[in-house]
Amino acid sequence: MMYKWATIIALCVVQINGYVIVDPELGVDPETLLPNVDTSGINGLSATGLYCNTGTRQSPIDIPYCVQKSLSALRIEGHGDVRPEGFTMLNTGSTAQISYNGLPVPTLSGGPLPKDSTYEFVQAHFHWGNDNVEGTEHAIHDTYGALEIHFVHRKSTYNDLATAIQHSDGLAVFGIIFSEQETNNTRLDKIIPNLANIITEGTTTTLDEDAMVWLEEVISAFQYYNYPGSLTTGDCNEVVNWIVMKRKVGISAAQVAKFRNLIGKDGYPIEEYRRHVQNLNNRVIKCARKDTSRFH
Ligand SMILES: *[C@@H]1O[C@H](CO)[C@@H](O)[C@H](O)[C@H]1NC(C)=O
Ligand SMILES: [Zn+2]
Repeated sequence: MMYKWATIIALCVVQINGYVIVDPELGVDPETLLPNVDTSGINGLSATGLYCNTGTRQSPIDIPYCVQKSLSALRIEGHGDVRPEGFTMLNTGSTAQISYNGLPVPTLSGGPLPKDSTYEFVQAHFHWGNDNVEGTEHAIHDTYGALEIHFVHRKSTYNDLATAIQHSDGLAVFGIIFSEQETNNTRLDKIIPNLANIITEGTTTTLDEDAMVWLEEVISAFQYYNYPGSLTTGDCNEVVNWIVMKRKVGISAAQVAKFRNLIGKDGYPIEEYRRHVQNLNNRVIKCARKDTSRFH
């Protein structure tokens, strides 16, 4: 029995550079801890903006492990609320983007964010792939999901997004991974059928007041990965405090397919909108020390 436990502990925890490194799901497989895998050849779009190819804290990444830290509760406030004014969904020519109508502005604070800072919600948008096996930007243990949503926030001390992306602490983004399931996730029915209303670039549609309540089941004050990274489009500015939720949301192939019907800037359907994973370099991926998910 002692031997068995010793083996389990040895498999789950290894000591690297003084950190206790614990695998997110399974225990550490040392083979997955290669810090600088060359990922330039794999699927996904390349980005060519200012920092995309010269930066050292680029996103997205594969998340092979996390370093447990004592973190206060991450406060995710307002995103999943019923919102009487509803939401606006826009075809930007690259993706479907959701903004929140009316007030208050949802906020993000606590957890791994700088002390006494508040990040204000700006917009949410989706990423998807040619297929549902590699549909996300972030991967966990080399495993992708079918779709990813990003909730972009700007530090409240910066007046606008353009200013925020000039500062290394300018943005906080949380991402949620959707994984493929057989049947439709009907909790997404206030969003996905409405994609048919925004097929053309620049068109918008209004979503019902309860379109985002599905979020309440997945966001968590403690169950996430956190690392310093970048925008995955444009100039790939290295200004993002990334939070990737551990919990996933189910989605069917028929539901993901609706995103590929959107027509992009070039006049063709947007078959994929995701950048391929970047080198981790010397970054540390953090997660909260305890599984305190019941208190979210
Ligand atoms: C599943 O969802 C898609 C997208 O909203 C819809 O077109 C399809 O009719 C749904 N299928 C069922 C069986 O409800
Ligand atoms: Zn994004």
